[in-house]
Amino acid sequence: MIQEYEPEATRRAASDTESSRASRGWWDRNADEYQNDHGAFLGDDRFVWGPEGLDEAEAGLLGPATELKGRRVLEIGAGAAQCSRWLAAQGAHPVALDLSHRQLQHALRIGTGAEPTGPDGSTGPDGSTGRGPAPGVSGRVELVEADAGALPFRDASFDLACSAYGAIPFVADPVWVLREVRRVLRPGGRWVFSVTHPIRWAFPDEPGPEGLSVGASYFDRTPYVEQDETGRAVYVEHHRTLGDRVRDVAAAGFRLVDLVEPEWPEWNSQEWGGWSPLRGNLIPGTAIFVCVAD
Ligand SMILES: C[S@@+](CC[C@H](N)C(=O)[O-])C[C@H]1O[C@@H](n2cnc3c(N)ncnc32)[C@H](O)[C@@H]1O
Repeated sequence: MIQEYEPEATRRAASDTESSRASRGWWDRNADEYQNDHGAFLGDDRFVWGPEGLDEAEAGLLGPATELKGRRVLEIGAGAAQCSRWLAAQGAHPVALDLSHRQLQHALRIGTGAEPTGPDGSTGPDGSTGRGPAPGVSGRVELVEADAGALPFRDASFDLACSAYGAIPFVADPVWVLREVRRVLRPGGRWVFSVTHPIRWAFPDEPGPEGLSVGASYFDRTPYVEQDETGRAVYVEHHRTLGDRVRDVAAAGFRLVDLVEPEWPEWNSQEWGGWSPLRGNLIPGTAIFVCVAD
Protein backbone atom coordinates (compact mmCIF):
# COMPACT_ATOMS: atom_id res chain seq x y z
CA MET A 1 0.00 0.00 0.00
CA ILE A 2 1.34 3.43 -0.90
CA GLN A 3 1.50 5.68 2.15
CA GLU A 4 0.53 9.24 1.21
CA TYR A 5 2.75 11.77 2.93
CA GLU A 6 0.94 14.51 4.84
CA PRO A 7 2.82 17.75 4.05
CA GLU A 8 4.38 19.53 6.99
CA ALA A 9 3.26 23.13 7.55
CA THR A 10 6.00 25.56 8.49
CA ARG A 11 7.14 29.17 8.10
CA ARG A 12 10.36 29.56 6.13
CA ALA A 13 11.85 31.45 3.19
CA ALA A 14 10.77 30.37 -0.31
CA SER A 15 12.30 31.73 -3.51
CA ASP A 16 10.35 32.84 -6.55
CA THR A 17 11.21 29.65 -8.45
CA GLU A 18 10.31 27.39 -5.55
CA SER A 19 7.04 29.26 -4.96
CA SER A 20 6.07 29.10 -8.62
CA ARG A 21 6.85 25.38 -8.91
CA ALA A 22 4.92 24.66 -5.71
CA SER A 23 1.90 26.67 -6.93
CA ARG A 24 1.75 24.94 -10.29
CA GLY A 25 1.88 21.50 -8.66
CA TRP A 26 -0.58 22.36 -5.89
CA TRP A 27 -3.16 23.92 -8.17
CA ASP A 28 -2.85 21.11 -10.71
CA ARG A 29 -3.42 18.54 -7.97
CA ASN A 30 -6.19 20.49 -6.22
CA ALA A 31 -8.07 22.18 -9.07
CA ASP A 32 -10.76 19.45 -9.18
CA GLU A 33 -11.45 19.77 -5.46
CA TYR A 34 -11.34 23.58 -5.59
CA GLN A 35 -13.88 23.76 -8.42
CA ASN A 36 -16.00 21.06 -6.80
CA ASP A 37 -16.07 22.88 -3.44
CA HIS A 38 -16.32 26.48 -4.66
CA GLY A 39 -17.64 26.29 -8.22
CA ALA A 40 -21.29 26.77 -7.21
CA PHE A 41 -20.48 29.83 -5.08
CA LEU A 42 -18.26 31.34 -7.77
CA GLY A 43 -20.88 30.68 -10.47
CA ASP A 44 -19.84 29.86 -14.03
CA ASP A 45 -20.03 33.45 -15.18
CA ARG A 46 -20.02 35.65 -12.09
CA PHE A 47 -17.17 37.92 -11.09
CA VAL A 48 -16.72 37.40 -7.33
CA TRP A 49 -13.84 39.20 -5.59
CA GLY A 50 -13.55 36.81 -2.62
CA PRO A 51 -15.30 34.62 -0.03
CA GLU A 52 -17.48 37.55 1.15
CA GLY A 53 -19.18 37.32 -2.25
CA LEU A 54 -18.63 40.91 -3.36
CA ASP A 55 -19.72 40.88 -6.98
CA GLU A 56 -18.13 43.10 -9.63
CA ALA A 57 -21.61 43.61 -11.11
CA GLU A 58 -22.44 45.64 -7.96
CA ALA A 59 -19.02 46.92 -6.97
CA GLY A 60 -17.92 48.31 -10.37
CA LEU A 61 -14.27 48.40 -9.29
CA LEU A 62 -13.12 48.06 -12.90
CA GLY A 63 -15.44 50.94 -13.82
CA PRO A 64 -19.08 50.90 -14.84
CA ALA A 65 -20.08 47.61 -16.49
CA THR A 66 -21.53 49.60 -19.39
CA GLU A 67 -18.02 50.83 -20.20
CA LEU A 68 -16.45 47.37 -20.41
CA LYS A 69 -17.69 46.73 -23.92
CA GLY A 70 -14.82 46.40 -26.37
CA ARG A 71 -12.17 46.61 -23.63
CA ARG A 72 -9.27 44.19 -23.68
CA VAL A 73 -8.96 42.80 -20.15
CA LEU A 74 -6.25 40.58 -18.67
CA GLU A 75 -7.28 38.32 -15.77
CA ILE A 76 -4.32 37.01 -13.77
CA GLY A 77 -4.61 33.69 -11.90
CA ALA A 78 -7.99 33.16 -13.52
CA GLY A 79 -8.61 29.59 -12.37
CA ALA A 80 -11.63 28.32 -14.33
CA ALA A 81 -12.11 31.84 -15.79
CA GLN A 82 -15.43 32.59 -14.10
CA CYS A 83 -14.60 36.31 -13.88
CA SER A 84 -13.49 36.42 -17.50
CA ARG A 85 -16.75 34.82 -18.56
CA TRP A 86 -18.66 37.63 -16.82
CA LEU A 87 -16.42 40.19 -18.55
CA ALA A 88 -17.10 38.54 -21.91
CA ALA A 89 -20.83 38.75 -21.22
CA GLN A 90 -20.41 42.54 -20.80
CA GLY A 91 -18.85 42.69 -24.26
CA ALA A 92 -15.22 42.89 -23.09
CA HIS A 93 -12.39 40.85 -24.66
CA PRO A 94 -10.90 38.95 -21.72
CA VAL A 95 -7.71 36.93 -21.64
CA ALA A 96 -7.71 34.48 -18.72
CA LEU A 97 -4.17 33.61 -17.64
CA ASP A 98 -3.20 30.92 -15.14
CA LEU A 99 -0.13 28.79 -14.51
CA SER A 100 -2.19 25.70 -13.67
CA HIS A 101 -3.03 23.47 -16.61
CA ARG A 102 -5.76 21.72 -14.62
CA GLN A 103 -7.46 24.98 -13.66
CA LEU A 104 -7.55 25.95 -17.34
CA GLN A 105 -8.99 22.54 -18.21
CA HIS A 106 -11.89 23.47 -15.93
CA ALA A 107 -12.21 26.72 -17.86
CA LEU A 108 -12.55 24.64 -21.02
CA ARG A 109 -15.07 22.34 -19.36
CA ILE A 110 -17.32 25.28 -18.43
CA GLY A 111 -16.85 26.88 -21.84
CA THR A 112 -14.91 29.69 -23.44
CA GLY A 113 -16.85 30.40 -26.59
CA ALA A 114 -13.67 29.62 -28.52
CA GLU A 115 -11.37 26.89 -29.69
CA PRO A 116 -8.81 25.86 -27.07
CA THR A 117 -5.57 27.85 -27.35
CA GLY A 118 -3.42 25.66 -25.05
CA PRO A 119 -0.08 24.58 -26.47
CA ASP A 120 -1.21 20.95 -26.64
CA GLY A 121 -4.79 21.59 -27.76
CA SER A 122 -5.88 20.28 -24.37
CA THR A 123 -9.38 19.28 -23.42
CA GLY A 124 -11.43 19.70 -20.26
CA PRO A 125 -11.44 17.04 -17.50
CA ASP A 126 -14.53 15.49 -19.08
CA GLY A 127 -13.01 15.56 -22.56
CA SER A 128 -14.80 18.77 -23.59
CA THR A 129 -12.98 20.92 -26.11
CA GLY A 130 -13.97 24.36 -24.95
CA ARG A 131 -16.08 24.99 -28.03
CA GLY A 132 -19.27 26.87 -27.42
CA PRO A 133 -20.00 29.52 -24.84
CA ALA A 134 -21.15 28.86 -21.30
CA PRO A 135 -24.79 29.81 -20.67
CA GLY A 136 -25.21 33.56 -20.70
CA VAL A 137 -21.82 34.22 -22.24
CA SER A 138 -21.92 36.07 -25.50
CA GLY A 139 -18.25 36.76 -26.14
CA ARG A 140 -15.09 34.73 -26.13
CA VAL A 141 -12.59 34.08 -23.39
CA GLU A 142 -9.02 33.49 -24.48
CA LEU A 143 -7.05 31.10 -22.23
CA VAL A 144 -3.32 31.42 -21.69
CA GLU A 145 -1.18 29.08 -19.60
CA ALA A 146 1.68 31.17 -18.19
CA ASP A 147 3.29 32.46 -15.04
CA ALA A 148 2.22 35.93 -13.90
CA GLY A 149 5.91 36.76 -13.53
CA ALA A 150 6.50 36.52 -17.29
CA LEU A 151 3.43 37.77 -19.12
CA PRO A 152 3.57 36.70 -22.78
CA PHE A 153 2.05 39.94 -24.10
CA ARG A 154 3.22 43.12 -25.79
CA ASP A 155 3.62 46.37 -23.86
CA ALA A 156 0.41 48.41 -23.46
CA SER A 157 -1.75 45.68 -25.01
CA PHE A 158 -4.57 45.72 -22.39
CA ASP A 159 -7.04 48.37 -21.23
CA LEU A 160 -7.71 46.75 -17.84
CA ALA A 161 -6.28 44.00 -15.64
CA CYS A 162 -7.79 42.14 -12.70
CA SER A 163 -7.17 39.29 -10.33
CA ALA A 164 -9.43 37.71 -7.72
CA TYR A 165 -6.99 36.01 -5.35
CA GLY A 166 -4.94 34.91 -8.35
CA ALA A 167 -1.14 34.70 -8.28
CA ILE A 168 -0.35 37.74 -6.08
CA PRO A 169 -0.68 35.91 -2.69
CA PHE A 170 1.52 33.11 -4.02
CA VAL A 171 4.51 34.93 -5.49
CA ALA A 172 7.72 35.79 -3.64
CA ASP A 173 8.27 39.03 -5.58
CA PRO A 174 4.91 40.77 -6.02
CA VAL A 175 6.56 43.99 -7.27
CA TRP A 176 7.99 42.04 -10.19
CA VAL A 177 4.51 40.77 -11.10
CA LEU A 178 2.95 44.21 -10.61
CA ARG A 179 5.60 45.69 -12.95
CA GLU A 180 4.71 43.05 -15.53
CA VAL A 181 1.03 44.03 -15.22
CA ARG A 182 2.01 47.72 -15.50
CA ARG A 183 4.03 46.95 -18.65
CA VAL A 184 1.15 45.27 -20.49
CA LEU A 185 -1.41 47.91 -19.47
CA ARG A 186 -1.90 51.03 -21.49
CA PRO A 187 -1.33 54.30 -19.59
CA GLY A 188 -4.45 55.17 -17.62
CA GLY A 189 -5.55 51.53 -17.44
CA ARG A 190 -6.98 50.08 -14.22
CA TRP A 191 -5.52 47.17 -12.29
CA VAL A 192 -7.69 45.71 -9.55
CA PHE A 193 -6.59 42.75 -7.45
CA SER A 194 -7.82 41.01 -4.31
CA VAL A 195 -5.77 39.13 -1.72
CA THR A 196 -6.26 37.72 1.75
CA HIS A 197 -6.51 40.74 4.04
CA PRO A 198 -3.05 41.08 5.67
CA ILE A 199 -4.54 41.22 9.19
CA ARG A 200 -5.62 37.58 8.76
CA TRP A 201 -1.97 36.52 9.06
CA ALA A 202 -2.03 37.33 12.76
CA PHE A 203 -4.89 34.86 13.38
CA PRO A 204 -5.14 31.07 13.03
CA ASP A 205 -6.74 30.21 9.68
CA GLU A 206 -9.83 28.70 11.31
CA PRO A 207 -13.47 29.64 10.68
CA GLY A 208 -14.56 29.17 14.30
CA PRO A 209 -13.87 31.06 17.54
CA GLU A 210 -10.28 29.71 17.62
CA GLY A 211 -9.71 31.92 14.57
CA LEU A 212 -10.43 35.04 16.61
CA SER A 213 -7.38 35.11 18.90
CA VAL A 214 -4.10 36.55 17.70
CA GLY A 215 -1.63 33.70 17.34
CA ALA A 216 1.26 35.18 15.37
CA SER A 217 2.90 38.50 14.65
CA TYR A 218 1.23 40.53 11.91
CA PHE A 219 4.73 41.84 11.14
CA ASP A 220 6.27 38.42 10.48
CA ARG A 221 6.67 38.24 6.70
CA THR A 222 8.07 34.70 6.72
CA PRO A 223 6.12 32.73 4.07
CA TYR A 224 3.72 29.94 4.99
CA VAL A 225 5.10 26.77 3.43
CA GLU A 226 3.83 23.21 3.24
CA GLN A 227 6.67 20.83 2.41
CA ASP A 228 7.03 17.16 1.61
CA GLU A 229 9.23 14.61 3.36
CA THR A 230 12.26 15.79 1.35
CA GLY A 231 11.73 19.41 2.41
CA ARG A 232 10.45 20.43 -1.04
CA ALA A 233 7.70 23.08 -0.92
CA VAL A 234 4.35 21.83 -2.18
CA TYR A 235 2.33 24.95 -1.23
CA VAL A 236 3.51 28.50 -0.53
CA GLU A 237 1.74 31.70 0.49
CA HIS A 238 3.58 34.96 0.97
CA HIS A 239 2.60 37.53 3.56
CA ARG A 240 2.83 41.28 3.03
CA THR A 241 1.51 43.84 5.48
CA LEU A 242 -1.01 46.43 4.29
CA GLY A 243 1.79 49.01 4.15
CA ASP A 244 3.97 46.63 2.11
CA ARG A 245 1.19 46.18 -0.42
CA VAL A 246 0.69 49.95 -0.77
CA ARG A 247 4.45 50.43 -1.29
CA ASP A 248 4.53 47.55 -3.81
CA VAL A 249 1.75 49.16 -5.83
CA ALA A 250 3.60 52.50 -5.89
CA ALA A 251 6.97 50.87 -6.66
CA ALA A 252 5.44 49.24 -9.73
CA GLY A 253 4.25 52.60 -11.10
CA PHE A 254 0.60 52.47 -10.06
CA ARG A 255 -1.51 55.02 -8.21
CA LEU A 256 -3.73 53.47 -5.54
CA VAL A 257 -7.21 54.98 -5.88
CA ASP A 258 -9.12 52.75 -3.45
CA LEU A 259 -8.61 49.98 -0.94
CA VAL A 260 -11.81 48.00 -0.49
CA GLU A 261 -12.38 45.81 2.58
CA PRO A 262 -15.66 44.01 1.85
CA GLU A 263 -17.92 43.50 4.85
CA TRP A 264 -19.51 40.11 5.34
CA PRO A 265 -23.06 40.38 3.92
CA GLU A 266 -26.08 39.01 5.76
CA TRP A 267 -27.07 36.74 2.86
CA ASN A 268 -23.78 34.83 2.90
CA SER A 269 -23.89 31.88 5.30
CA GLN A 270 -21.17 29.94 3.49
CA GLU A 271 -17.78 29.19 5.02
CA TRP A 272 -14.74 29.09 2.75
CA GLY A 273 -11.71 27.67 4.56
CA GLY A 274 -10.91 30.15 7.33
CA TRP A 275 -13.48 32.68 6.05
CA SER A 276 -16.78 32.48 7.87
CA PRO A 277 -19.73 34.68 8.87
CA LEU A 278 -18.44 34.63 12.47
CA ARG A 279 -15.02 36.04 11.60
CA GLY A 280 -16.25 38.09 8.65
CA ASN A 281 -18.51 40.11 10.92
CA LEU A 282 -15.56 41.04 13.14
CA ILE A 283 -12.40 41.31 11.03
CA PRO A 284 -11.79 41.88 7.33
CA GLY A 285 -10.97 38.82 5.23
CA THR A 286 -10.21 40.34 1.85
CA ALA A 287 -8.34 43.43 0.68
CA ILE A 288 -9.00 44.72 -2.84
CA PHE A 289 -6.51 47.18 -4.33
CA VAL A 290 -7.83 49.48 -7.02
CA CYS A 291 -4.91 50.95 -8.97
CA VAL A 292 -4.39 53.13 -12.03
CA ALA A 293 -1.35 52.92 -14.32
CA ASP A 294 -0.03 56.48 -14.37
C1 LIG B 1 -7.32 31.05 -5.23
S1 LIG B 1 -7.19 30.63 -6.93
C2 LIG B 1 -8.20 31.91 -7.62
C3 LIG B 1 -8.72 31.52 -8.96
C4 LIG B 1 -9.84 32.43 -9.46
N1 LIG B 1 -9.40 33.79 -9.59
C5 LIG B 1 -11.03 32.31 -8.52
O1 LIG B 1 -11.46 33.34 -7.96
O2 LIG B 1 -11.53 31.19 -8.36
C6 LIG B 1 -5.54 31.16 -7.34
C7 LIG B 1 -5.16 30.92 -8.79
O3 LIG B 1 -3.90 31.59 -9.04
C8 LIG B 1 -3.13 30.75 -9.87
N2 LIG B 1 -1.72 31.12 -9.70
C9 LIG B 1 -0.95 30.94 -8.59
N3 LIG B 1 0.28 31.40 -8.81
C10 LIG B 1 0.31 31.87 -10.08
C11 LIG B 1 1.31 32.45 -10.90
N4 LIG B 1 2.55 32.65 -10.45
N5 LIG B 1 0.99 32.83 -12.16
C12 LIG B 1 -0.27 32.62 -12.64
N6 LIG B 1 -1.26 32.06 -11.91
C13 LIG B 1 -0.99 31.69 -10.65
C14 LIG B 1 -3.47 29.34 -9.41
O4 LIG B 1 -3.14 28.38 -10.39
C15 LIG B 1 -4.95 29.46 -9.14
O5 LIG B 1 -5.72 29.12 -10.26
